[in-house]
Amino acid sequence: MTQTYDVVIIGAGPAGYVAAIRAAQLGFSTACIDNWKNDKGDYALGGTCLNVGCIPSKALLESSENYERVLQKFSAHGISVKGAEMDVRKMQARKEKIVAQLVNGIDFLFKKNKVTWLKGHGSFVGGAGPYRLEVKGDGAAQTVEAQHVIIATGSIARHLSEVPVDNEVVCDNVGALAFRTVPPRLGVIGAGVIGLELGSVWRRLGSKVTLLEALPDFLGACDKAVSKEAWKIFTKTQGLDIRLDVKIGKVTRDAKGVRVEYKDSGGGQLLECDKLVVSIGRIPNTKGLGADAVGLKIGERGFIDVDAHCRTNLPGVYAVGDVVRGPMLAHKGMDEGVMVAEHIASQAGHVDLDVIPWVIYTAPEIAWVGKTEQQLQAEDIAYRVGQAPFAANGRALGQDETEGFVKVLADAKTDRVLGVHIICSHASELIAEAVMAMEFRASAEDIARICHAHPSLAEVMHEASLAVGKRALHL
Ligand code: FAD
Ligand code: NAI
Repeated sequence: MTQTYDVVIIGAGPAGYVAAIRAAQLGFSTACIDNWKNDKGDYALGGTCLNVGCIPSKALLESSENYERVLQKFSAHGISVKGAEMDVRKMQARKEKIVAQLVNGIDFLFKKNKVTWLKGHGSFVGGAGPYRLEVKGDGAAQTVEAQHVIIATGSIARHLSEVPVDNEVVCDNVGALAFRTVPPRLGVIGAGVIGLELGSVWRRLGSKVTLLEALPDFLGACDKAVSKEAWKIFTKTQGLDIRLDVKIGKVTRDAKGVRVEYKDSGGGQLLECDKLVVSIGRIPNTKGLGADAVGLKIGERGFIDVDAHCRTNLPGVYAVGDVVRGPMLAHKGMDEGVMVAEHIASQAGHVDLDVIPWVIYTAPEIAWVGKTEQQLQAEDIAYRVGQAPFAANGRALGQDETEGFVKVLADAKTDRVLGVHIICSHASELIAEAVMAMEFRASAEDIARICHAHPSLAEVMHEASLAVGKRALHL
């Protein structure tokens, strides 16, 4: 007999698994279909984020940063370490343990909340509420029915058509997270988030890293003050070789590695490297979803068309996460998953895409929310700026992490916070205060009047907010 569920989610990445848990909490009979298999050939929950994205990359960033601290920073504390060595295999094993722990954690949460995990590839085969979905796993295919469907099929790495990725020598995120030895020369196409994060990991461990970026501006989505500071630190202090405004030409493999021909302002150039990472963005994944079987509308750029509440053109069918418009970030997908589950339960819910925090986990980290100064100028919005550095902050000095600043942008008339831009060692944590302020429609003065613990990095947020009103105390 065909099993019927109130809600079936396709995809168990952060958008899908959170939607499934919330739907089950709200009393719906819920199943979640996922086809992800790990490198042992086992089905694994968590999607890109847990298996080959957020979680493993942050584990490697931490390990490599610790290694660099030992080599470069410990001596100032009076700690001398002789013969420090990095065991890359051990580092990878630690990463895999963290991934396994979190993946198993979702399995536990599914069981706890009575979410049925259907292992295999899910596709629409017909129906219109209930919808019929086929699940093709290792055994015989099965068909289930769903009153409501939440599509959370995520995204996949974009590749260059003429550069085949084998994840051994030419890699996307999957291969670049799994190197077993440090490549002496690492080439990276695309100086975006993945290029900078994973480029930093392997640079810290000893690779000579060269990034080739198509755009003339570095980190164009960031506030200009931040990208300028980041450029200085990444290229001058840390030695990442970032070449902008390039056009990639022929890429060839030989016994020694990879040869990348490209053009920049100086004419034709050649980059020879042992491994190449292609990190030029990600594309929505609707492969084999059976969209045509039910008339699901997919837009020109491959994203499933949705409205502000993630409703597709089909009644009772929603789409969330990387497969729809908006930033491709795990927390954005999770919030959409919760919103949709609550809408199905006739509750209210809303995700404000204008107040989604971004973090780039380099060292120092970069984090922002809201508008950049260049966006405010382009939109002709009058604003005031408050900026404060970490250089004189007691906590930053104690931690020997004095690079960077906080920049607060506020409406010139109302003082409402319009954007906050941070570059510093713990920007990923500090940005939460700014997100909260913006969600509560706070003014810069509101932040300035809040008591911040001393000594803490958060004091710099306080100081930058004071600076908006030209009454900074420590500048
Ligand atoms: P996904 O995580 O891609 O999950 C989709 C799931 O659906 C997968 O398991 C897939 O196998 C499955 N699936 C697809 N089609 C079907 C089908 N037809 N049937 C069954 N199953 C199907 N974001 C952050 O916010 N912070 C970070 O630090 C961060 N770091 C990242 C680092 C890297 C290297 C990468 C690549 C990404 C990173 N991201 C980060 C982005 C983040 O991983 C994605 O935004 C997030 O995973 C998207 O979640 P999702 O649930 O929409 O899709
Ligand atoms: P990205 O969009 O961040 O960067 C891609 C870069 O490649 C851009 O700078 C782009 O101009 C450049 N590019 C595109 N085509 C090119 C070409 N032909 N030649 C040279 N350069 C080219 O994408 P990335 O780094 O692949 O990451 C994908 C997404 O994954 C991110 O946009 C983000 O949504 C998510 N992510 C988030 C992280 C986080 O939150 N910390 C970490 C890693 C990924």
